[in-house]
Amino acid sequence: MTEHRRGGPSLPQERRLQTAIPGPRSQELLARRDAAVARGIAITLPVFVTRAGGGVLVDVDGNSLIDFGSGIAVVNVGNSAEHVVANVREQVGELTHTCFMITPYEGYVAVCEQLARLTPGDHEKRSALFNSGAEAVENAVKISRAATGRQAVVVFDHAYHGRTNLTLALTAKNMPYKHSFGPFAPEIYRMPMAYPFRWPTGPERCGEEAAAEVVTAIDKQLGAENVACLVIEPIQGEGGFVVPGEGFLPRLADYCRSHGIVFVADEVQTGFARTGAWFACEHEGVVPDLVATAKGIAGGLPLAAVTGRAELMDSVHVGGLGGTFGGNPVACAAALGAIRTIEEQGLVGAARRIGEVMLPRLRALQQRFPVVGDVRGRGAMVAVELVEPGTKTPDPAVTQQLAKACHADGLVVLTCGTYGNVLRFLPPLVMPDHLLDEGLAIVERAFAGVAEERAPGLAVEATA
Ligand SMILES: Cc1ncc(COP(=O)(O)O)c(C=O)c1O
Repeated sequence: MTEHRRGGPSLPQERRLQTAIPGPRSQELLARRDAAVARGIAITLPVFVTRAGGGVLVDVDGNSLIDFGSGIAVVNVGNSAEHVVANVREQVGELTHTCFMITPYEGYVAVCEQLARLTPGDHEKRSALFNSGAEAVENAVKISRAATGRQAVVVFDHAYHGRTNLTLALTAKNMPYKHSFGPFAPEIYRMPMAYPFRWPTGPERCGEEAAAEVVTAIDKQLGAENVACLVIEPIQGEGGFVVPGEGFLPRLADYCRSHGIVFVADEVQTGFARTGAWFACEHEGVVPDLVATAKGIAGGLPLAAVTGRAELMDSVHVGGLGGTFGGNPVACAAALGAIRTIEEQGLVGAARRIGEVMLPRLRALQQRFPVVGDVRGRGAMVAVELVEPGTKTPDPAVTQQLAKACHADGLVVLTCGTYGNVLRFLPPLVMPDHLLDEGLAIVERAFAGVAEERAPGLAVEATA
Protein backbone atom coordinates (compact mmCIF):
# COMPACT_ATOMS: atom_id res chain seq x y z
CA MET A 1 0.00 0.00 0.00
CA THR A 2 1.33 3.46 -0.84
CA GLU A 3 1.93 5.52 2.20
CA HIS A 4 -0.06 8.73 2.09
CA ARG A 5 2.32 11.39 3.33
CA ARG A 6 -0.26 14.14 3.38
CA GLY A 7 -3.31 14.74 5.49
CA GLY A 8 -6.44 16.54 4.44
CA PRO A 9 -9.36 15.29 2.38
CA SER A 10 -7.19 13.08 0.12
CA LEU A 11 -6.36 10.80 3.05
CA PRO A 12 -7.93 7.34 2.53
CA GLN A 13 -11.31 7.42 4.24
CA GLU A 14 -11.05 4.12 6.05
CA ARG A 15 -10.76 2.70 9.55
CA ARG A 16 -7.59 0.64 9.80
CA LEU A 17 -6.22 -0.92 12.97
CA GLN A 18 -2.66 -2.21 12.66
CA THR A 19 -1.76 -2.34 16.35
CA ALA A 20 -3.52 -2.26 19.68
CA ILE A 21 -4.67 1.26 20.64
CA PRO A 22 -2.39 2.93 21.67
CA GLY A 23 0.33 1.26 19.58
CA PRO A 24 4.04 0.96 20.48
CA ARG A 25 5.16 4.26 18.87
CA SER A 26 2.38 6.12 20.65
CA GLN A 27 3.42 4.50 23.92
CA GLU A 28 7.01 5.65 23.42
CA LEU A 29 5.79 9.19 22.81
CA LEU A 30 3.54 8.95 25.82
CA ALA A 31 6.58 8.19 27.98
CA ARG A 32 8.32 11.29 26.54
CA ARG A 33 5.16 13.27 27.16
CA ASP A 34 5.07 12.17 30.80
CA ALA A 35 8.61 13.45 31.30
CA ALA A 36 8.10 16.79 29.56
CA VAL A 37 4.46 17.89 29.65
CA ALA A 38 2.65 19.14 32.74
CA ARG A 39 0.42 16.52 34.37
CA GLY A 40 -2.52 18.94 34.47
CA ILE A 41 -2.93 18.62 30.70
CA ALA A 42 -5.04 15.46 30.40
CA ILE A 43 -5.32 13.23 27.32
CA THR A 44 -8.54 11.46 26.30
CA LEU A 45 -7.04 8.93 23.90
CA PRO A 46 -3.24 8.61 23.88
CA VAL A 47 -2.61 7.98 20.20
CA PHE A 48 -0.20 10.47 18.67
CA VAL A 49 -1.59 11.72 15.39
CA THR A 50 0.52 12.44 12.32
CA ARG A 51 -2.09 13.17 9.66
CA ALA A 52 -5.81 13.82 9.58
CA GLY A 53 -8.49 14.73 7.08
CA GLY A 54 -12.13 14.12 6.17
CA GLY A 55 -13.41 11.75 8.83
CA VAL A 56 -10.15 10.10 9.95
CA LEU A 57 -7.07 10.57 12.13
CA VAL A 58 -3.92 8.57 11.32
CA ASP A 59 -1.50 7.80 14.14
CA VAL A 60 2.24 7.16 14.35
CA ASP A 61 1.63 3.40 14.31
CA GLY A 62 -0.28 3.56 11.01
CA ASN A 63 -3.73 3.16 12.58
CA SER A 64 -6.54 5.13 10.94
CA LEU A 65 -9.25 6.06 13.41
CA ILE A 66 -12.74 7.40 12.73
CA ASP A 67 -13.09 10.83 14.24
CA PHE A 68 -16.30 11.57 16.17
CA GLY A 69 -14.64 14.41 18.09
CA SER A 70 -13.34 17.02 15.59
CA GLY A 71 -10.76 18.14 18.16
CA ILE A 72 -13.71 19.21 20.35
CA ALA A 73 -15.92 20.70 17.63
CA VAL A 74 -13.12 22.57 15.87
CA VAL A 75 -12.47 20.95 12.50
CA ASN A 76 -16.04 21.23 11.27
CA VAL A 77 -14.64 21.47 7.72
CA GLY A 78 -12.30 18.52 8.34
CA ASN A 79 -8.58 18.66 9.07
CA SER A 80 -6.41 20.48 6.55
CA ALA A 81 -9.38 21.38 4.35
CA GLU A 82 -8.27 22.53 0.89
CA HIS A 83 -9.26 26.20 1.09
CA VAL A 84 -7.86 26.47 4.60
CA VAL A 85 -4.51 25.01 3.53
CA ALA A 86 -4.34 27.12 0.35
CA ASN A 87 -5.14 30.36 2.20
CA VAL A 88 -2.71 29.61 5.03
CA ARG A 89 0.09 28.71 2.60
CA GLU A 90 -0.38 31.92 0.69
CA GLN A 91 -0.64 34.08 3.79
CA VAL A 92 2.29 32.54 5.62
CA GLY A 93 4.53 33.41 2.66
CA GLU A 94 3.38 37.06 2.70
CA LEU A 95 3.45 38.02 6.36
CA THR A 96 2.85 36.16 9.63
CA HIS A 97 2.25 38.98 12.11
CA THR A 98 2.22 42.72 12.41
CA CYS A 99 -0.31 43.07 15.26
CA PHE A 100 -3.58 44.51 13.95
CA MET A 101 -3.42 47.21 16.62
CA ILE A 102 -0.06 48.44 15.30
CA THR A 103 -0.29 48.16 11.50
CA PRO A 104 -3.51 46.55 10.24
CA TYR A 105 -4.09 44.14 7.34
CA GLU A 106 -7.13 43.27 5.21
CA GLY A 107 -7.76 39.69 6.42
CA TYR A 108 -8.89 40.86 9.86
CA VAL A 109 -11.44 43.23 8.34
CA ALA A 110 -12.63 40.55 5.91
CA VAL A 111 -13.29 38.10 8.78
CA CYS A 112 -15.26 40.77 10.66
CA GLU A 113 -17.31 41.43 7.50
CA GLN A 114 -18.08 37.72 7.19
CA LEU A 115 -19.09 37.53 10.86
CA ALA A 116 -21.45 40.47 10.39
CA ARG A 117 -23.02 38.68 7.43
CA LEU A 118 -23.32 35.23 9.04
CA THR A 119 -24.32 35.85 12.68
CA PRO A 120 -28.05 36.16 13.47
CA GLY A 121 -29.82 39.50 12.92
CA ASP A 122 -29.60 42.14 10.20
CA HIS A 123 -28.71 45.04 12.53
CA GLU A 124 -25.44 46.91 12.16
CA LYS A 125 -22.62 44.89 13.73
CA ARG A 126 -18.98 45.16 14.71
CA SER A 127 -16.51 42.43 15.67
CA ALA A 128 -13.29 42.14 17.64
CA LEU A 129 -10.97 39.15 17.18
CA PHE A 130 -9.17 37.15 19.85
CA ASN A 131 -7.32 33.85 20.28
CA SER A 132 -9.58 31.48 22.22
CA GLY A 133 -13.16 30.90 23.22
CA ALA A 134 -12.44 31.91 26.81
CA GLU A 135 -10.92 35.17 25.67
CA ALA A 136 -13.97 35.88 23.49
CA VAL A 137 -16.42 35.21 26.33
CA GLU A 138 -14.37 37.28 28.75
CA ASN A 139 -14.34 40.19 26.30
CA ALA A 140 -18.10 39.86 25.77
CA VAL A 141 -18.49 40.42 29.53
CA LYS A 142 -16.12 43.41 29.45
CA ILE A 143 -18.05 44.95 26.55
CA SER A 144 -21.40 44.35 28.28
CA ARG A 145 -20.18 46.01 31.47
CA ALA A 146 -18.75 48.99 29.60
CA ALA A 147 -21.93 49.39 27.53
CA THR A 148 -24.38 49.17 30.43
CA GLY A 149 -22.36 50.59 33.32
CA ARG A 150 -23.62 47.58 35.33
CA GLN A 151 -21.65 44.76 36.92
CA ALA A 152 -23.71 41.61 37.54
CA VAL A 153 -23.39 38.68 35.14
CA VAL A 154 -26.00 35.92 34.96
CA VAL A 155 -24.86 32.40 34.04
CA PHE A 156 -26.39 28.93 34.31
CA ASP A 157 -26.07 25.56 35.97
CA HIS A 158 -23.91 23.18 33.88
CA ALA A 159 -22.33 26.08 31.99
CA TYR A 160 -18.83 25.92 30.56
CA HIS A 161 -17.21 29.11 29.30
CA GLY A 162 -13.46 28.52 29.60
CA ARG A 163 -10.47 28.35 31.91
CA THR A 164 -9.32 31.94 32.46
CA ASN A 165 -10.12 33.37 35.88
CA LEU A 166 -13.27 35.22 34.81
CA THR A 167 -14.53 32.37 32.63
CA LEU A 168 -13.85 29.86 35.41
CA ALA A 169 -16.14 31.97 37.54
CA LEU A 170 -18.76 31.66 34.79
CA THR A 171 -18.17 27.89 34.48
CA ALA A 172 -20.27 25.65 36.72
CA LYS A 173 -18.22 22.50 37.22
CA ASN A 174 -15.63 22.21 39.97
CA MET A 175 -13.62 19.14 38.97
CA PRO A 176 -11.44 19.35 36.98
CA TYR A 177 -11.87 22.96 35.89
CA LYS A 178 -12.11 25.11 39.02
CA HIS A 179 -10.77 22.93 41.82
CA SER A 180 -7.98 24.66 43.76
CA PHE A 181 -7.81 27.65 41.39
CA GLY A 182 -9.87 30.23 43.29
CA PRO A 183 -10.58 32.89 44.32
CA PHE A 184 -12.82 33.65 41.37
CA ALA A 185 -14.17 36.92 40.01
CA PRO A 186 -17.15 38.42 41.87
CA GLU A 187 -20.60 39.53 40.62
CA ILE A 188 -21.38 36.23 38.87
CA TYR A 189 -24.85 34.77 39.59
CA ARG A 190 -25.81 31.22 38.63
CA MET A 191 -29.37 30.38 37.61
CA PRO A 192 -31.24 27.13 36.88
CA MET A 193 -30.80 25.67 33.41
CA ALA A 194 -33.75 24.33 31.41
CA TYR A 195 -32.41 20.75 31.32
CA PRO A 196 -35.36 18.75 29.98
CA PHE A 197 -34.17 15.28 31.04
CA ARG A 198 -33.62 16.41 34.62
CA TRP A 199 -36.38 18.98 35.03
CA PRO A 200 -38.50 17.99 38.05
CA THR A 201 -41.89 18.32 36.29
CA GLY A 202 -40.70 16.70 33.07
CA PRO A 203 -39.44 17.99 29.71
CA GLU A 204 -42.67 19.51 28.32
CA ARG A 205 -42.93 22.46 30.66
CA CYS A 206 -39.20 22.72 31.33
CA GLY A 207 -38.44 25.73 29.11
CA GLU A 208 -41.30 27.82 30.38
CA GLU A 209 -40.88 26.94 34.07
CA ALA A 210 -37.11 27.36 34.07
CA ALA A 211 -37.38 30.76 32.37
CA ALA A 212 -39.93 31.86 34.97
CA GLU A 213 -37.56 30.81 37.77
CA VAL A 214 -34.68 32.73 36.21
CA VAL A 215 -36.75 35.87 35.71
CA THR A 216 -37.99 35.74 39.31
CA ALA A 217 -34.48 35.20 40.65
CA ILE A 218 -33.09 38.13 38.67
CA ASP A 219 -35.96 40.40 39.70
CA LYS A 220 -35.90 39.45 43.36
CA GLN A 221 -32.25 38.70 44.07
CA LEU A 222 -30.26 40.91 41.71
CA GLY A 223 -32.51 43.63 40.33
CA ALA A 224 -32.52 43.71 36.53
CA GLU A 225 -31.06 47.22 36.59
CA ASN A 226 -27.85 45.81 38.10
CA VAL A 227 -27.35 43.11 35.48
CA ALA A 228 -24.90 43.82 32.67
CA CYS A 229 -25.39 40.61 30.72
CA LEU A 230 -26.72 37.11 30.63
CA VAL A 231 -24.26 34.61 29.15
CA ILE A 232 -25.61 31.33 27.81
CA GLU A 233 -24.63 28.48 25.53
CA PRO A 234 -27.62 27.91 23.23
CA ILE A 235 -26.79 24.21 23.55
CA GLN A 236 -24.51 23.45 26.47
CA GLY A 237 -21.26 21.75 25.49
CA GLU A 238 -19.06 20.45 28.31
CA GLY A 239 -22.09 20.54 30.61
CA GLY A 240 -23.68 17.63 28.74
CA PHE A 241 -25.02 18.72 25.32
CA VAL A 242 -28.10 20.07 27.05
CA VAL A 243 -30.58 21.39 24.50
CA PRO A 244 -32.63 23.87 26.56
CA GLY A 245 -36.34 23.21 26.92
CA GLU A 246 -38.32 24.88 24.13
CA GLY A 247 -39.06 28.53 24.74
CA PHE A 248 -36.32 29.05 27.34
CA LEU A 249 -33.93 31.00 25.10
CA PRO A 250 -36.58 33.22 23.44
CA ARG A 251 -38.16 34.04 26.82
CA LEU A 252 -34.79 35.01 28.30
CA ALA A 253 -33.86 37.03 25.21
CA ASP A 254 -37.17 38.95 25.48
CA TYR A 255 -36.61 39.61 29.17
CA CYS A 256 -33.09 40.87 28.52
CA ARG A 257 -34.30 43.16 25.73
CA SER A 258 -36.98 44.73 27.89
CA HIS A 259 -34.56 45.33 30.81
CA GLY A 260 -31.47 46.57 28.98
CA ILE A 261 -29.52 43.39 29.79
CA VAL A 262 -27.06 42.31 27.10
CA PHE A 263 -27.92 38.80 25.84
CA VAL A 264 -24.61 37.05 25.11
CA ALA A 265 -24.73 33.78 23.17
CA ASP A 266 -21.66 31.66 23.75
CA GLU A 267 -21.61 29.90 20.37
CA VAL A 268 -18.02 28.75 20.81
CA GLN A 269 -18.97 25.06 20.52
CA THR A 270 -22.30 25.34 18.69
CA GLY A 271 -21.19 27.81 16.01
CA PHE A 272 -20.09 27.51 12.40
CA ALA A 273 -22.68 25.05 11.09
CA ARG A 274 -22.16 22.45 13.84
CA THR A 275 -25.84 22.14 14.81
CA GLY A 276 -27.36 22.31 11.31
CA ALA A 277 -27.61 26.10 11.34
CA TRP A 278 -24.79 28.62 11.15
CA PHE A 279 -25.49 29.38 14.83
CA ALA A 280 -27.58 27.40 17.31
CA CYS A 281 -29.60 30.47 18.38
CA GLU A 282 -31.26 30.33 14.97
CA HIS A 283 -33.16 27.14 15.86
CA GLU A 284 -35.48 29.22 18.03
CA GLY A 285 -35.19 32.50 16.12
CA VAL A 286 -33.16 34.17 18.88
CA VAL A 287 -31.05 37.17 17.89
CA PRO A 288 -28.34 37.72 20.52
CA ASP A 289 -26.87 41.14 21.25
CA LEU A 290 -23.36 39.68 21.33
CA VAL A 291 -22.10 36.35 19.99
CA ALA A 292 -18.85 34.74 21.16
CA THR A 293 -17.28 32.39 18.61
CA ALA A 294 -14.07 30.34 18.37
CA LYS A 295 -13.42 26.61 17.74
CA GLY A 296 -14.94 26.01 14.25
CA ILE A 297 -14.22 29.51 12.97
CA ALA A 298 -10.84 28.84 11.36
CA GLY A 299 -10.57 25.17 10.41
CA GLY A 300 -8.20 24.37 13.29
CA LEU A 301 -6.21 27.58 13.68
CA PRO A 302 -6.61 29.60 16.87
CA LEU A 303 -9.06 32.43 16.33
CA ALA A 304 -12.05 33.75 18.24
CA ALA A 305 -14.44 36.66 18.00
CA VAL A 306 -17.05 38.76 19.68
CA THR A 307 -19.62 40.01 17.20
CA GLY A 308 -22.52 42.21 18.13
CA ARG A 309 -24.65 45.30 17.94
CA ALA A 310 -22.55 48.21 16.73
CA GLU A 311 -23.70 50.51 19.54
CA LEU A 312 -22.66 47.99 22.23
CA MET A 313 -19.36 47.06 20.64
CA ASP A 314 -18.48 50.71 19.99
CA SER A 315 -19.32 51.78 23.51
CA VAL A 316 -15.85 50.64 24.60
CA HIS A 317 -13.22 53.41 24.66
CA VAL A 318 -10.53 53.38 21.96
CA GLY A 319 -7.76 50.96 22.96
CA GLY A 320 -9.99 49.13 25.45
CA LEU A 321 -10.02 45.88 23.46
CA GLY A 322 -7.28 43.90 21.78
CA GLY A 323 -4.26 41.69 22.36
CA THR A 324 -0.97 40.94 20.62
CA PHE A 325 -2.05 37.92 18.60
CA GLY A 326 -5.82 38.47 18.34
CA GLY A 327 -6.89 38.16 14.70
CA ASN A 328 -3.48 36.89 13.55
CA PRO A 329 -3.26 37.13 9.73
CA VAL A 330 -2.66 33.41 9.21
CA ALA A 331 -5.63 32.51 11.43
CA CYS A 332 -7.79 35.05 9.56
CA ALA A 333 -6.78 33.55 6.20
CA ALA A 334 -7.74 30.13 7.58
CA ALA A 335 -11.12 31.46 8.75
CA LEU A 336 -11.90 32.82 5.29
CA GLY A 337 -11.00 29.39 3.89
CA ALA A 338 -13.18 27.60 6.45
CA ILE A 339 -16.18 29.86 5.78
CA ARG A 340 -15.78 29.36 2.03
CA THR A 341 -15.63 25.59 2.58
CA ILE A 342 -18.80 25.56 4.68
CA GLU A 343 -20.65 27.48 2.00
CA GLU A 344 -19.28 25.69 -1.10
CA GLN A 345 -19.75 22.23 0.38
CA GLY A 346 -23.15 22.94 1.93
CA LEU A 347 -21.96 21.91 5.39
CA VAL A 348 -24.93 23.45 7.24
CA GLY A 349 -27.12 20.89 5.45
CA ALA A 350 -24.47 18.20 5.98
CA ALA A 351 -24.63 18.78 9.74
CA ARG A 352 -28.41 18.44 9.65
CA ARG A 353 -28.15 15.19 7.72
CA ILE A 354 -25.59 13.79 10.18
CA GLY A 355 -28.12 14.41 12.97
CA GLU A 356 -30.84 12.73 10.92
CA VAL A 357 -28.67 9.61 10.65
CA MET A 358 -27.28 9.59 14.20
CA LEU A 359 -30.31 10.41 16.33
CA PRO A 360 -32.53 7.50 15.17
CA ARG A 361 -29.63 5.03 15.53
CA LEU A 362 -28.94 6.27 19.06
CA ARG A 363 -32.65 6.24 19.95
CA ALA A 364 -32.76 2.62 18.82
CA LEU A 365 -29.97 1.96 21.34
CA GLN A 366 -32.12 3.60 24.01
CA GLN A 367 -34.83 1.01 23.27
CA ARG A 368 -32.36 -1.85 23.68
CA PHE A 369 -30.17 -0.69 26.55
CA PRO A 370 -31.83 0.76 29.65
CA VAL A 371 -28.54 2.41 30.63
CA VAL A 372 -29.37 5.04 27.98
CA GLY A 373 -31.44 7.64 29.83
CA ASP A 374 -31.61 10.30 27.15
CA VAL A 375 -30.59 10.91 23.53
CA ARG A 376 -30.39 14.52 22.44
CA GLY A 377 -28.73 17.11 20.27
CA ARG A 378 -29.03 19.01 17.04
CA GLY A 379 -27.23 18.40 13.76
CA ALA A 380 -23.75 17.03 14.28
CA MET A 381 -23.75 17.76 18.02
CA VAL A 382 -25.45 14.76 19.61
CA ALA A 383 -25.07 12.79 22.81
CA VAL A 384 -26.41 10.00 24.99
CA GLU A 385 -26.79 10.41 28.75
CA LEU A 386 -26.08 7.25 30.72
CA VAL A 387 -27.86 6.35 33.93
CA GLU A 388 -28.43 3.43 36.24
CA PRO A 389 -31.28 1.52 34.57
CA GLY A 390 -34.74 2.63 35.62
CA THR A 391 -33.41 5.76 37.38
CA LYS A 392 -31.87 9.13 36.52
CA THR A 393 -28.82 8.40 38.65
CA PRO A 394 -25.78 9.25 36.51
CA ASP A 395 -23.48 6.36 35.57
CA PRO A 396 -20.05 7.85 34.81
CA ALA A 397 -18.39 4.43 35.11
CA VAL A 398 -20.35 2.92 32.23
CA THR A 399 -19.71 6.10 30.24
CA GLN A 400 -15.96 5.59 30.60
CA GLN A 401 -16.29 1.90 29.77
CA LEU A 402 -18.19 2.70 26.56
CA ALA A 403 -15.75 5.42 25.54
CA LYS A 404 -12.79 3.07 26.08
CA ALA A 405 -14.48 0.30 24.07
CA CYS A 406 -15.01 2.74 21.18
CA HIS A 407 -11.40 3.90 21.38
CA ALA A 408 -10.07 0.34 21.32
CA ASP A 409 -12.18 -0.29 18.22
CA GLY A 410 -10.76 2.74 16.39
CA LEU A 411 -13.42 5.37 17.04
CA VAL A 412 -12.59 8.66 18.74
CA VAL A 413 -15.45 9.67 21.05
CA LEU A 414 -15.53 12.17 23.90
CA THR A 415 -17.40 12.31 27.18
CA CYS A 416 -18.82 15.32 28.99
CA GLY A 417 -21.51 16.36 31.47
CA THR A 418 -21.62 17.76 34.96
CA TYR A 419 -21.88 14.17 36.20
CA GLY A 420 -19.38 12.77 33.65
CA ASN A 421 -22.12 10.53 32.25
CA VAL A 422 -22.58 11.82 28.71
CA LEU A 423 -21.06 10.27 25.61
CA ARG A 424 -20.88 12.98 22.98
CA PHE A 425 -20.45 12.85 19.24
CA LEU A 426 -19.06 15.70 17.15
CA PRO A 427 -18.05 14.31 13.75
CA PRO A 428 -16.48 16.65 11.19
CA LEU A 429 -19.26 17.83 8.89
CA VAL A 430 -17.37 16.31 5.94
CA MET A 431 -17.62 12.81 7.47
CA PRO A 432 -18.32 10.36 4.61
CA ASP A 433 -21.56 8.34 4.95
CA HIS A 434 -19.78 4.98 5.14
CA LEU A 435 -17.61 6.13 8.06
CA LEU A 436 -20.56 7.65 9.88
CA ASP A 437 -22.29 4.30 9.53
CA GLU A 438 -19.20 2.36 10.63
CA GLY A 439 -18.66 4.67 13.61
CA LEU A 440 -22.24 4.15 14.74
CA ALA A 441 -21.81 0.39 14.37
CA ILE A 442 -18.80 0.63 16.70
CA VAL A 443 -20.90 2.53 19.24
CA GLU A 444 -23.57 -0.17 18.96
CA ARG A 445 -20.97 -2.91 19.47
CA ALA A 446 -19.62 -1.08 22.51
CA PHE A 447 -23.09 -1.01 24.09
CA ALA A 448 -23.66 -4.70 23.32
CA GLY A 449 -20.22 -5.56 24.77
CA VAL A 450 -20.77 -3.59 27.96
CA ALA A 451 -24.26 -5.09 28.40
CA GLU A 452 -22.81 -8.58 27.93
CA GLU A 453 -20.11 -7.86 30.51
CA ARG A 454 -22.67 -6.64 33.02
CA ALA A 455 -25.29 -9.32 32.43
CA PRO A 456 -23.81 -12.21 30.44
CA GLY A 457 -26.30 -13.91 28.12
CA LEU A 458 -28.83 -11.10 28.29
CA ALA A 459 -27.29 -8.74 25.74
CA VAL A 460 -29.07 -8.38 22.45
CA GLU A 461 -26.73 -8.80 19.46
CA ALA A 462 -25.74 -5.49 17.91
CA THR A 463 -27.34 -4.92 14.53
CA ALA A 464 -25.61 -2.94 11.76
C1 LIG B 1 -19.23 26.87 25.05
C2 LIG B 1 -17.77 27.11 25.24
N1 LIG B 1 -17.35 28.32 25.60
C3 LIG B 1 -16.05 28.59 25.78
C4 LIG B 1 -15.10 27.62 25.61
C5 LIG B 1 -13.65 27.95 25.82
O1 LIG B 1 -12.98 27.92 24.59
P1 LIG B 1 -11.40 27.80 24.56
O2 LIG B 1 -11.05 26.44 25.02
O3 LIG B 1 -11.05 28.06 23.11
O4 LIG B 1 -10.87 28.87 25.45
C6 LIG B 1 -15.49 26.33 25.23
C7 LIG B 1 -14.50 25.26 25.07
O5 LIG B 1 -14.78 24.09 25.10
C8 LIG B 1 -16.87 26.07 25.04
O6 LIG B 1 -17.29 24.85 24.69
